Amino acid sequence: MQIIPLAPTHAADAARLHILGQPGTFLTTLGPGVLTALYRTLPRTRAGFGFAAIDHEANGVDEAGALLGFISATTGVDKLFAEIGTTGLGTLLPPLVGQLARHPALIWRSVQTVAYPLLVGGDENGPPPAELLSIMVEPNLRSQGTGTRLLAALVAACQERAILLLDVTVDASNEGAQRFYVRHGFVHHHDFTLYARRMAQYRLAIPSG
Ligand SMILES: CC(C)(COP(=O)(O)OP(=O)(O)OC[C@H]1O[C@@H](n2cnc3c(N)ncnc32)[C@H](O)[C@@H]1OP(=O)(O)O)[C@@H](O)C(=O)NCCC(=O)NCCS
Repeated sequence: MQIIPLAPTHAADAARLHILGQPGTFLTTLGPGVLTALYRTLPRTRAGFGFAAIDHEANGVDEAGALLGFISATTGVDKLFAEIGTTGLGTLLPPLVGQLARHPALIWRSVQTVAYPLLVGGDENGPPPAELLSIMVEPNLRSQGTGTRLLAALVAACQERAILLLDVTVDASNEGAQRFYVRHGFVHHHDFTLYARRMAQYRLAIPSG
């Protein structure tokens, strides 16, 4: 297994893993088309970055390799939304409009998603924390250290970017993920409600490199 930077070519597989890893959540209900467009756009932005765990043996050296897991993050959700709004809309809008037309109930949740940076709040002074957006590992490969390797790559990237804090928001009912974050040094920061669900925000102080 190799850890490499997340690229637009991983988008469809990342969407598949996202849907498997986060059943019943808002982004998953937007469907594979919207998620693929999101993961195609994110690595093209300046504010978005991430890593992919690749099994090169699965497809041979000339192929892209199977995606075993991935992690994605942004230096700021507000900056990421702004970039998607200006450069990524052509990719994202067609599948999003189609899905919202089919499921109008999702429109309000989309509005909440755009308002999300306000909900989590920026209560402190100093540089704003980066945000871990998603970490997903192929279900039958979990508990074998892939998530740990992906997180280590992300933390190293944060050190290179002089990022001091990394936040992650997790559904309060996702006890497994919270165990994973706490084991890796994240500390519970605060709780809030999003999409009528209880969310827990955790924070990692990035160790100096
Ligand atoms: C959380 C996750 C990325 C961890 O990846 P991983 O490769 O299993 O991580 P590691 O092998 O490095 O560490 C395993 C630890 O993660 C935690 N964990 C959380 N959810 C887990 C799950 N569904 N299965 C196994 N371990 C899980 C446990 O603490 C586990 O330790 P244990 O095996 O001693 O119980 C992975 O379990 C996953 O994809 N979960 C579903 C998606 C999700 O909830 N993502 C986080 C919210 S964005």
